Amino acid sequence: MHSLTAQIPELSNSYVCMKDPQKVQETLQAMVKAGSNTLQVISDFDMTLTRFAYNGKRCPTCHNILENSKVISDDCKIKLDELLKTYYPIEIDASRSIEEKLPLMVEWWTKAHELLVAQRIRKDLLATAVHESEAKLRQGHLKLFLDGFKLFFDHLHKHCIPLLIFSAGIGDILEEVIRQAGVFHSNVNVFSNYMDFDESGMLKAFKGELIHIYNKREGALLNTGHFQELRTRPNVLLMGDSLGDLAMADGVHDMENILRIGYLNDKVEERKQSYLDSYDIVLIENETLDVPNAVVHYLT
Ligand code: TMP
Ligand code: MG
Repeated sequence: MHSLTAQIPELSNSYVCMKDPQKVQETLQAMVKAGSNTLQVISDFDMTLTRFAYNGKRCPTCHNILENSKVISDDCKIKLDELLKTYYPIEIDASRSIEEKLPLMVEWWTKAHELLVAQRIRKDLLATAVHESEAKLRQGHLKLFLDGFKLFFDHLHKHCIPLLIFSAGIGDILEEVIRQAGVFHSNVNVFSNYMDFDESGMLKAFKGELIHIYNKREGALLNTGHFQELRTRPNVLLMGDSLGDLAMADGVHDMENILRIGYLNDKVEERKQSYLDSYDIVLIENETLDVPNAVVHYLT
């Protein structure tokens, strides 16, 4: 433990928990030895790359960005909010199994997407909706422009490390968030739910197979081409905030090492043990990218 925190001092912060620091150290050492040209990063978006709360108020997910914008009628806002109040407590309920939650999550996403499609949202209004939103990518503890998400995205780009953002949110929205933040670099790929617009630019459906919080494994296996291209990178840094995010790396070819960093944002006491059992490093109620940035710097 001592030499681990000597190498990466951020891991001694009080919000960092690890069930097996020795294993973390061994994994990191193996990944350093293999070299950064064998590394790929796979990250969830909502509540992982974006903040969970700011000044005591919840920050929006991709769906919430639309929900809070002018492109949605007041009646639809009420219905989406009712869905959130019904299904979010289920998403984070530690007393229910993933099997039990899965059909309910499909129900949530299906109902939400039906409501959004009925709004005939115009593609050309999405950029303004994002611009006017309270979307917030995670910063560093100093909250300088260069110590949080900017450092994370720019550093991975500079070192030619592929970053896959794998989100059950809305691809068009998340792309706009990172584009407006100036970090949608060429090393970034996105797997998400993309909107399908008709010739006049109105939302008519969502494309392809639905990605929800508990089918990221299926989503990964559908995208074999992406992982095939990255087959020379069998070392993975995975970042997520849900136990469903752990499956994001299931498509990786002949994986050698994986280091999983998990943000535990909500219902901490109830969920801490399960997060410690499945994520190598758990960040408890922390809003920064300091630990991922420190790990990425160590590995490159
Ligand atoms: P993620 O995979 O990028 O984290 O996106 C999934 C999040 O989206 C999940 O935490 C639940 C959230 N969500 C909403 O906030 N509103 C909705 O209507 C739906 C369907 C999901
Ligand atoms: Mg998330």
